[in-house]
Amino acid sequence: MKRKILIALLFIFIVIQFIRPHKNQSGEIAADDITQHFTVPQNVQIILQRSCNDCHSNNTHYPWYSNIQPVYWWLQKHINDGKKELNFSTFASYTPKRQVHKLNETIEQIKSGEMPLNSYLLVHHDAKLDTADKKILTDWATTLKNEIAAANQLPADK
Ligand code: HEC
Repeated sequence: MKRKILIALLFIFIVIQFIRPHKNQSGEIAADDITQHFTVPQNVQIILQRSCNDCHSNNTHYPWYSNIQPVYWWLQKHINDGKKELNFSTFASYTPKRQVHKLNETIEQIKSGEMPLNSYLLVHHDAKLDTADKKILTDWATTLKNEIAAANQLPADK
């Protein structure tokens, strides 16, 4: 009996390896990418790429183990949810109001330590933000949202 269950589980494990959604890898910098329209200094971009862009851009860097199901689905779910909220690859297509709002959210998420997600940090130790990283990101987001708000006569804190 026990053996049958084990064989059934193994069978399911093998079958699910073949069910996989498309990878989130456009392989290019989109025309609406934040870097194409706004100032993103290199030290900021390095942190975004390391800690945020796997779930907030059109180009995820997949570690080898993400090719094993169900890890792939789990990651894909986070990518879909993350991109829905904020996608740096399409940031320039947002309305100025949404851009300001998302940058304010970015500052908030970083200060509260909610991003990057804890479950992600378990496997991506290098994505953890130290105090200096946090300051670099929040200073950049503050300057940028103030600029966008001023240029569009919007409140900067919404
Ligand atoms: C493992 C995937 C993952 C990583 C890495 C990640 N996020 Fe997220 N992020 C999500 C998901 C999923 C959501 C939407 C659900 C939620 O808020 O938990 C989200 C939501 C957000 C939001 C929107 C909050 C709102 O309510 O508008 C912001 C802003 C954000 N993330 C910023 C960041 C920043 C900045 C980083 C890097 C320092 C980062 N995230 C790293 C998955 C991720």
